[in-house]
Formats: sequence, structure tokens, C-alpha cells
Amino acid sequence: MTTSSGNGTAPLFQVEALHVSVEGKEILKGVDLIVRQGEVHAIMGPNGSGKSTLANAIMGHPKYKVTGGDIRYLGQSIVGLKADQRARLGVFLAFQYPTAIPGVTMVNFLRHALNAVRGQEVPVKDFRNLLRDKMTLLKVDRSFSARYVNEGFSGGEKKRVEMLQMAVLEPKLAVLDETDSGLDIDALKTVAEGINTLLNPAQSILLITHYQRILNYVKPHFVHVLAQGNILKSGGPELALELEAKGYDWILKEAAALPQGVSS
Ligand SMILES: Nc1ncnc2c1ncn2[C@@H]1O[C@H](COP(=O)(O)OP(=O)(O)OP(=O)(O)O)[C@@H](O)[C@H]1O
Ligand SMILES: [Mg+2]
Repeated sequence: MTTSSGNGTAPLFQVEALHVSVEGKEILKGVDLIVRQGEVHAIMGPNGSGKSTLANAIMGHPKYKVTGGDIRYLGQSIVGLKADQRARLGVFLAFQYPTAIPGVTMVNFLRHALNAVRGQEVPVKDFRNLLRDKMTLLKVDRSFSARYVNEGFSGGEKKRVEMLQMAVLEPKLAVLDETDSGLDIDALKTVAEGINTLLNPAQSILLITHYQRILNYVKPHFVHVLAQGNILKSGGPELALELEAKGYDWILKEAAALPQGVSS
């Protein structure tokens, strides 16, 4: 496979024949994916199929070992980079289960995160202005910034904070690992609204999700089905509707009928 797109420039982000093992067990078995600037890709698939593993491998979680293939960002391999180095390049991961950090206020947490990503101290006044603008944009309640990170936040509030974090850090590639379980329809809408507010031609998003529901609010350019450690099928938004109606079994059967290494 070539690393160049049709117009001769390298895609923003590319996963190439990626193999990833966790605790010595191979979970991803040759995943291929290309994300260009401004594109929204949805990744769907059954429980335990490796979606979060893919997100963790992209972010450089040390437990997730790349045993084959490559992850490229603007044509360069990032497999050897640590998570913070990847973040500085503009890769952002919103965690599937956001954790509470007692004693650290949101405002301090976000400021440190931004300093880390920029690799330099952002003046406090500039940061406060930036935060205020982004909170207004995302309709986040002012009181949030003085609260401790995710402590006592409802599921929906955590999601709002996650969107705020993404807005402040302005990543070029955002990987959103969404568990829809436990999120009510309002929280889902919050995530969708956040994504739609932040979407621009320079913003690419990898949206990992279980249900088609969220895709009623965010229109992905591409939908991929990750199952059995591989992307077994890719399509447009209509594929998500088909999955909602028919489940995943037909994709597994279809893949089993194809010669090895071929996906539809
Ligand atoms: N840190 C880990 N330690 C041990 N096993 C792991 C770890 N992370 C993932 N796995 C295993 O890898 C497989 C894929 O898990 P993963 O979390 O990537 O699935 P998923 O597609 O995100 O599932 P879900 O839809 O439930 O979120 C599972 O069998 C899981 O048990
Ligand atoms: Mg997961």
C-alpha cells in the first residue's frame, strides 16, 4: 500500500497492516485505515472486537504492543513515540471511562494539558480567555472550571468536559472512544453537538461507537466495522443503518466467505 493520497500529499493519519497484542494476546490482526484532513470516520463492531485496543495503540498506551505494521501521522511512523509526544503532534484521545482526579480543578487540569501539548507555558490570562471562549462555544456552565476533574460529574457532564478538553487542545486527530452504555440520549446529543461545533476542514475525528444512534447526530464520512481483529467492512453512513437493522453476523459470514486478507 502507498502512503500517498491521490493529490500527492500524505494522508493525515494512516494505520497500515497493524498488529497489536495486549498481555501477550494478539487482538488486532492487520488493520488498515486511512484518515484524511477534515474526515469523520466511525468505527463500529461487537464488544471485545478490539476498538478500544485500536484507540489505545494509536495513543501509545504502553500495554498495547505493536507487533507488526505501522501507524503513520503525516507520513511519519509514530509507533516509537510516547503518548505525550503523540499528543504534542496533535493526536487526542478521549477516554472511554473518564476518571476522577480528586483535588485537581478542571481549570488547572486543562491548563496543564494545554501546556503539555504546546510544549510551553501558556500565560494564565491567555488560557483563561481561551477557556472562556470554548466554554461559551460549547455551552459549558461556568461553575465547571472550579470543580474537581470529573468528581461527582454526571455521565453527561463528563462528556461535556471531554468535549471542552478537545476544544481547548485543538487536536488535528481526535479519537473518541464512546461507550454508549450508561449515556442517556441527552449525553449522546452533547457529544454529537460538541463534535459538530468543533468540526472544521482541519479537524479529523475517529469516532468509536456501539450504536448507530449517535450517528443520527454526527454524520461520518466513512463507517468501518472492526471484528475479529480486522476491519471487515467499510462504507458510508448507510452502513451504520444497515448494522442497526441487521446486526453484525452477516458481516462475519460475508468475511468468512471471502479469500483470506480481503475485506469488502
Ligand atoms: N489491558 C488489557 N488487558 C487484558 N486484555 C485486554 C486489555 N485490553 C483489551 N484486552 C482484550 O482485548 C480484547 C479487545 O478489547 P477491546 O477493549 O479493544 O474491545 P472493544 O471492541 O473496545 O470492546 P467494547 O465494545 O466492549 O468497548 C478483549 O478480549 C479484551 O479482553
Ligand atoms: Mg471499548
